[in-house]
Amino acid sequence: MGCQMNVLDSELVLGQLCALGYEPTHELASADLVLLNTCSVRQHAEDKVYSRLGEVGRAKAKHPEMLVGVIGCMAERDHEGLRRRARHVDLLCGPGNLNEIPALIEEIELARREHGKLTVALALEHDHSRREPAARRTLLYDSIEALDISRTKPMEGSLLQSYVRVQRGCDKFCTFCVVPFTRGPERSRPPGHIVEEARRLVDLGAREITLLGQTVNSYSYDEGTRVTRFAELLARVHEVPGLERLRFVTSYPGDFTDDILEAMRDLPRLCEYLHLPAQSGSNAVLKRMRRQYTVEQYVELFERARAMVPGISLAGDFIVGFSGETEEEHAATLALLTRVRYKNVYMFKYSERPGTLAERRMIDDIPEDVKSRRHAELSTLQHEISLAHHQALVGQCVEVLVEGYSKAAVRAQESEQSRGQETSWRRSDQLTGRTRTDEIVVFSGSPSLIGQLATIRVTAATALTLHGEVASGPGPLVSSPTV
Ligand code: SAH
Ligand code: F3S
Repeated sequence: MGCQMNVLDSELVLGQLCALGYEPTHELASADLVLLNTCSVRQHAEDKVYSRLGEVGRAKAKHPEMLVGVIGCMAERDHEGLRRRARHVDLLCGPGNLNEIPALIEEIELARREHGKLTVALALEHDHSRREPAARRTLLYDSIEALDISRTKPMEGSLLQSYVRVQRGCDKFCTFCVVPFTRGPERSRPPGHIVEEARRLVDLGAREITLLGQTVNSYSYDEGTRVTRFAELLARVHEVPGLERLRFVTSYPGDFTDDILEAMRDLPRLCEYLHLPAQSGSNAVLKRMRRQYTVEQYVELFERARAMVPGISLAGDFIVGFSGETEEEHAATLALLTRVRYKNVYMFKYSERPGTLAERRMIDDIPEDVKSRRHAELSTLQHEISLAHHQALVGQCVEVLVEGYSKAAVRAQESEQSRGQETSWRRSDQLTGRTRTDEIVVFSGSPSLIGQLATIRVTAATALTLHGEVASGPGPLVSSPTV
């Protein structure tokens, strides 16, 4: 569950378990080990974990040897609550300790053999690492780092587009956000490790790499004699032979320097896509959120980005109904959407998180129905903007990395197979992929295009998807169009 960082963590944990002889299964009833990788960013995500745990508990009742673990942010944030409310959980492991899962499993198995009773095996970072001596911090860090470095071909899913972590944790402490508490302090990985990991993934078949960090642009690795900053890291990963596309998420508007925009302008394989969460269009709200920038600075940054990087597309995050948000403050967010004209926006209703400054010092005073109405207003406005953005691409040619069959084609294939029919190429040839600027494109084409870059002429658009056809002749290729 949760963010891209969790997708990557799940992949690494699965890889680690497969190396021990485990095999993935999609049937809960037949599983020997069930791990839920969890998210704490909003209450809704945590509620989902409890409901899944209920389902897992029923399966475990029929299969008592089943090992059940909760890993990720929720284990770190609320291990006590989980132990109290879900007594069938055997293992709890925070996102900074995932390398310890094999040892935890062994601990439980040993305890079962020796005493015949369950113990809860626990590996958490807590908030200690901010207070602990540097030597222990480095030791802990080196062992979790080994998990990323030892990465191999994923057991599930495709390698085509792979994530590589550049940082762990976050030090920004936005007042609404639980991430600094669950993922610990901000630590940048050694650039050599990142480049090596990217090289290994490309050798295994990756074509696109997305560098991940909570505030990726504040990446900084200090080797004593020299410091590597994010723009330099981008340039180094960009040179990995065979890599076709490079992206990064998520940027923090506060420390965004021009050298990163220059890299986006100058490095041909670095995509013109910037995910730059604003959170609100009101300075008063930004101040209460302790975001360290103003709306004016944010607008100035995206104007600079648009001037320096032709065709750049922007995505944003917004929270509606934060503590004390007035109608005027909400209107300021709508105005910012109209001003920036994002390609797409991720929008969330404010969810108070235990332990954050907002929870301790402010009141979650916006009624649920008001949050829902404001969310709907943002959503309606952005829908129009996204549709216009997409419609402006109709008739143009775009570069698409072909990911696979479209959802409709997969459904058609499945229904043909379930009726015992041979899957016909004609009926299931609808493919999907993404442009450099992250638009989703659906088109008809030969399956041999999967994994390749293709030039697609856009023929129709909805707010979410572009439809197109493989461009036969040389079209006016716009790798990064704008509206
Ligand atoms: N820098 C991180 C942010 C993590 S949280 C990143 O990689 O995206 C992702 C988004 O969730 C945030 O940008 C914010 O818009 C939203 N969010 C975080 N805490 C929230 C909360 N308490 N309630 C609602 N939305 C929240
Ligand atoms: Fe959260 Fe703010 Fe960091 S949103 S992840 S505390 S930049």
